Amino acid sequence: MRDLAPANVRAIAPYVPGKPIAETARELGIDAARILKMASNESPLGPSPAALAAIRGALDGLNYYPDGSGYELKGAISRRLGVTPEKIVLGNGSNDVLELVARAFLRAGESAIYSRHAFMVYPLVVQAIGAQGIEVPARDFGNDLEALALAVRADTRIVFLANPNNPTGTFSAWEDIAALVERVPRQVLVVLDEAYGEYLPDELASPTPGWLARFPNLVVTRTLSKAYGLAGLRVGYALAHPEVAELMNRVRQPFNVNHLAMVAACAALEDTGFIARARDVNAAGLAQLARGFERLGLAYIASRANFITVRVGPAERIYRALLAEGVIVRPIAGYGMPEHLRVTVGLPEHNERFLDALARALGVR
Ligand SMILES: Cc1ncc(COP(=O)(O)O)c(C=O)c1O
Repeated sequence: MRDLAPANVRAIAPYVPGKPIAETARELGIDAARILKMASNESPLGPSPAALAAIRGALDGLNYYPDGSGYELKGAISRRLGVTPEKIVLGNGSNDVLELVARAFLRAGESAIYSRHAFMVYPLVVQAIGAQGIEVPARDFGNDLEALALAVRADTRIVFLANPNNPTGTFSAWEDIAALVERVPRQVLVVLDEAYGEYLPDELASPTPGWLARFPNLVVTRTLSKAYGLAGLRVGYALAHPEVAELMNRVRQPFNVNHLAMVAACAALEDTGFIARARDVNAAGLAQLARGFERLGLAYIASRANFITVRVGPAERIYRALLAEGVIVRPIAGYGMPEHLRVTVGLPEHNERFLDALARALGVR
């Protein structure tokens, strides 16, 4: 049956998600409550209580289809960011809007650019439509903005980059990103993925909503899966020029974001105290993990996100040893980093349990 699919689809490397808690508990024969998942950059704080309350209040309306225009949620995003609703596209997670950009703007035979060690979904959505993905070498594990700009060809339609980057946590200065958007030809969309933007300190906060009027070829993507703690609901959005947003909306499934996700997202966006706490807990956790790696003599990549990537050498063996203790982290050989593991920042006790298990796995104690 494989030959029924076009060659570009057959060539797609399947996305490998973080190992689920329930599966690990089954395999180890232990209670799911004893499993610590630090593998998919989820929030250790759970969902915002305001979001949970909003969901409870919305359960009775589930016999109705959701509002396919997302009027309320676009209003909430619009108020929060000062961006008018016609510049907003809602997605079933930000993965969905990443795919919408590709489906709306990229044809088979054209090309899209992304960095080595970039988020796996970029090559995936490019390949799915038979376009060519151009992978540009990274610099110090991060986006090399100069190399990305130089890689643009006559047939290039999209440059994808994340800031901070996943899986490396590296950060590029916003003014350098503005220079990249300015430099690429106007027929090339720059898709700037800000999935981890909420974790940046105030002085590095993203200025990009304010750039939309200046850069009609800029698409910013964001998610409520990370700092907002709503990964299981699937809700994200894109910000773009109204004409770009309108075209993305044409290829969108009419009810791509479910009602509970939208209701929860509206409440979560208002809960600014929750995000401030997420940022503080994350900053302390990053520092705790970095200190732990230093004690163990391990090199790590300085991170601005809610995860940190550490060089452990035989990563697959260490991953398995951690797993045997019920600690799930993420091997990233598939991202071209076979000696590194990526670990999501947890609460202080999670970070400590992981560091202890890591020391044992390395044979340090
Ligand atoms: C860089 C980046 N972009 C986008 C996403 C997608 O997140 P979601 O589809 O949950 O919004 C992720 C999730 O891991 C990510 O790391």
